[in-house]
Amino acid sequence: MLIDGHGREVNYIRVSVTERCNFRCQYCMPEKPFSWTPKENLLSFDELFKFIKIAIDSGVNKVRITGGEPLLRENLDYFIKLIHNYNADIDLAITTNGYLLPEIAQKLKDAGLKRLNISLDSLKPAVAAQIAQKNVLSKVLEGIEKSLEVGLKVKINMVPLWGINDSEIIDILEFARERDITVRFIEYMENIHANSQIKGLSGKEILSAIKQKYKIKKVGRVKNSPSFHYEIVENGYRFGLIDPHKHDFCEDCNRIRLTAEGHLIPCLYFDEAQSIAQAVRDNDIDKAAEILKDVLANKPKENRWGEDDNEGSNRAFYQTGG
Ligand code: 5AD
Ligand code: SF4
Repeated sequence: MLIDGHGREVNYIRVSVTERCNFRCQYCMPEKPFSWTPKENLLSFDELFKFIKIAIDSGVNKVRITGGEPLLRENLDYFIKLIHNYNADIDLAITTNGYLLPEIAQKLKDAGLKRLNISLDSLKPAVAAQIAQKNVLSKVLEGIEKSLEVGLKVKINMVPLWGINDSEIIDILEFARERDITVRFIEYMENIHANSQIKGLSGKEILSAIKQKYKIKKVGRVKNSPSFHYEIVENGYRFGLIDPHKHDFCEDCNRIRLTAEGHLIPCLYFDEAQSIAQAVRDNDIDKAAEILKDVLANKPKENRWGEDDNEGSNRAFYQTGG
């Protein structure tokens, strides 16, 4: 079992397989041109897997593949197979923007993938294009339908932003309910890479938008999930709210993150990270396990999104998978 320096059990690793993305979401990506990490600096799937095996052997039972946009990395199904074949009980999921799913959903399912979280910020083509800075909606919708068709479990993520998609909260909620899938509304997390003009709705504001139409009741925070659950009284539909600005958000944080370059990150908010790249390249399993222990011992107690006087994280979400 992996325990961090604050007594929390860590059983979940998020692995970012690429920082590249085919979208430029305003809440995530820099506006200015920038250069990607050269490909030779990235760990191969076999190298990433060496570390994941250590994590699984120490008690991790949930692995989520993120990016950037993870489906851009070639042969992702090979990576999924490595993990699935090592331990078929691992809760194996991907977070994706959905754009490439129409072509790849079946392959992912066949490789052993169980679940997908797909970003869906708008049902209006022009608004979706404004957020992603590309005409994306029809492919994303097709990707959602295809994933359901091949038998993958799907959740939808929406980040509500004032003046952009704030009027679509109920539409997205109903879209999800009609398909019997969960939607999670995520508070915009301030970070220095995003468009500085955007302003997200707070959890309270998101709930009051929903209350315009529905009576809702609190269900509670699901253990080890960042999501607080609510239920629509008249039909029993449950949705999630992810509110990292709340002070109790980090209390039972159970996760660490690994980037494509091999940086092991204890908390999304902070810059601290240690590299396991050399250790896995040298096949030095003891060294990699030692770094894992050290990162856990120094995992911060909580993020700082709830504080008034801070401008958000320096960390780029497109490198760490949000
Ligand atoms: N604030 C909140 N959510 C974010 N995501 C990416 N950047 C941010 C941010 N700044 C979410 C997206 C997507 C997932 C990859 O992370 O909505 O669902
Ligand atoms: Fe790409 Fe996801 Fe960032 Fe959007 S939020 S730019 S889809 S990595």
